[in-house]
Amino acid sequence: MRSILIRFVVPTLIAAGILAFFGVPYVERILAGWFRGDVDMRAQLVAHSMEGSLARFVERNDKSGLARYLAGITTDERLMAVVVCRADGTPYFQTDRTPEEIGCEALQRTGDRGSSLIKLEDGSVEVSSFVIGAADSKPLRALLVHDLSFIDRRQSSARNYVLALAGIAASVLALTFGFVFWLFLRRWVRVLVRDIRGRRFLDDAQSEADSRPILAQIRHALREAERTQRLEIDFHENWTPQALQQVVSEHLRSPEVFIVSNREPYIHNRSPAGPIVQVPASGMVTALEPIMRACSGTWIAHGSGTADRDVVDSHDRVRVPPDEPAYTLRRVWLTEEEEEGFYYGFSNEGIWPLCHLAYVRPAFREADWRQYESVNRKFAEVVAKESESKDPLILVQDYHFALLPRLLRERKPAATIALFWHIPWPNSETFGLCPWKTQILAHMLAADILGFHTRYHCQNFLATVDRFLECQIDHEHMTVTISGHVCRVVPYPISIEWPPRWLASLPDVKTTRDAIRSRYGIGSNVCIGLGVERWDFTKGIIERFQALEALLDKQRNFRERLTLLQVAAPTRSKLPAYQALQSQTLSEAQRINDRFGTGSWKPIVLIDHHQEPREVFELFRAADFCIVNSLHDGMNLVAKEFVAARDDQDGVLILSTFAGASRELPEALLVNPFDVGETAAAMRIAMQMSREERRERMKLMRRTVKENNVYRWAGRMLMDAAQMRQRQLLSKNVFEL
Ligand code: G6P
Repeated sequence: MRSILIRFVVPTLIAAGILAFFGVPYVERILAGWFRGDVDMRAQLVAHSMEGSLARFVERNDKSGLARYLAGITTDERLMAVVVCRADGTPYFQTDRTPEEIGCEALQRTGDRGSSLIKLEDGSVEVSSFVIGAADSKPLRALLVHDLSFIDRRQSSARNYVLALAGIAASVLALTFGFVFWLFLRRWVRVLVRDIRGRRFLDDAQSEADSRPILAQIRHALREAERTQRLEIDFHENWTPQALQQVVSEHLRSPEVFIVSNREPYIHNRSPAGPIVQVPASGMVTALEPIMRACSGTWIAHGSGTADRDVVDSHDRVRVPPDEPAYTLRRVWLTEEEEEGFYYGFSNEGIWPLCHLAYVRPAFREADWRQYESVNRKFAEVVAKESESKDPLILVQDYHFALLPRLLRERKPAATIALFWHIPWPNSETFGLCPWKTQILAHMLAADILGFHTRYHCQNFLATVDRFLECQIDHEHMTVTISGHVCRVVPYPISIEWPPRWLASLPDVKTTRDAIRSRYGIGSNVCIGLGVERWDFTKGIIERFQALEALLDKQRNFRERLTLLQVAAPTRSKLPAYQALQSQTLSEAQRINDRFGTGSWKPIVLIDHHQEPREVFELFRAADFCIVNSLHDGMNLVAKEFVAARDDQDGVLILSTFAGASRELPEALLVNPFDVGETAAAMRIAMQMSREERRERMKLMRRTVKENNVYRWAGRMLMDAAQMRQRQLLSKNVFEL
């Protein structure tokens, strides 16, 4: 508004002032002309009416009669004085108020019967002359002196009126134009602002923007556009925690972010020295923890550590990470029966083997299912209690919480819910083995977004839904509509943070290698092959040992030249399948070491306990090759972590074609983990590969992992969730119309 005043109204007023400055004298001149014409006319009238009487007084030389007669006439305020002159120009008579400056010599200025304007000290007078008794040989002449000060007075009031009128008219005009201009500008700005915002899903800032001055609106819109552009650049090139934060605040505008998972990101365990903190071996935790650091919020998870209860507050909350608190961990306590049925039973003896084609038979027990249902309900209650807003953003993790989307939707209908399934989804026939398949599918579909690692898993899921539920599937847009709710099924290949924070505190590769060699007694001429896993039957640990044995068997020259450093972090050890795997692993390692080991060289060094992430990264940097030969794996983040750890651009990755990561890292040596010979050959190739080739492959893989980091993973999923949320709102509005 101020700018409109400065740029439009003020110039109009100035123009009006200039016009008045030159226009007023012109008007004055016109007025003066009119008034003088008027005075002339009056003078003639007066002269005619006086002519006879004056002639008689002069004839009788009756000066006192003449004085009386003229005194009567000059009472008129405008006829100031009358002067009578002889033919020779000498004065004969003059009335009292005759100005000193006016005498018979003024006759020369007026001519025979004319008039003249004479300026006096106190104002102007109009002097008109005429002849008395024109028939006489020596006629007298009369001068009528008219006071023109009334013209000055009238001119002055006329000037004031004209100026006032001009001022008012100019102001009205300027304001009218200004207003019309403002309306135009505002409309134009709206269009501009809308265009600038063009691609935004949520544009509820319109009313807020309307109340702002126009330039501020434009500036605001441009700032927003610039931010969006920066964000888009980030989307394509450089996904950072900041870019992710922007997605959450600008696209979702959610004040509350929740992650719900079974496994907690930090476990407090008792030790003689007090509680110690452990970061669990879980791809899910590896991926989600940096997200939570970036977005803050609350992570709700099962409190499974022996000292977990000791460190929480009265609301079962604790701020984490312990050394640099950035978000809240809300622990949920499970009874032994709940843990037994929900975690060990239904989740890990039922769904886990069902979804992994590792040929371990799934077990489905009614009692486990009941516990699974009740623990899902328990978590739903906790989320609802923790959330103060009506539309929180809830990111549900993994197969432990398949029922949560619907249970949450019932409690928080306006929430944005995404469920990410961190493990593979089998084909419909396999999933059909589950006795509670329809309940599981229907509950999952209450989410806004269902994420899987690969398109193949999404297609498997859609085929499963198609087979077991009455619903509408749009294969082109990958959506499922059920009871009016639309759920999008999208592949989001999960990843890791870039750069991984553990690298910062590690020495260079050579120093790290030397340290690892001396820690595990590996000679300087021995290649280090590395395997890092939870001790799980899906990971192909036994198949890896078999491949190593085959290599050493066939290629004697590799003996004493290769050691497989195998980290196997115990997991789910209560379950028979895991116990069997552990004892088989130990005995196989023992057998192979006995068979080939010599003096100080052992083909297999088994690290059968949990390693903290920093220790794992040390191993990555020390290895000549890392082998990930999972029999079936959703993604496998170990593969990506190994690549991220190798800032020396060295090291070879051997990767299973049945791990989701193989879709993104084709530069790895890809193997079929069930083919022992192929895996053995990959180990040999890795050991013989030239430095140049290792560098080329590693460079390409590093670029992929860097660009497709976990911030991009979360950002894409959240932007899709925002879009879904907006669409749901719009369609709801349409139906309510
Ligand atoms: C897989 C699952 C995670 C789980 C992890 C560790 O990666 O997808 O959800 O946390 O295994 O398993 P655990 O049973 O120890 O949590």
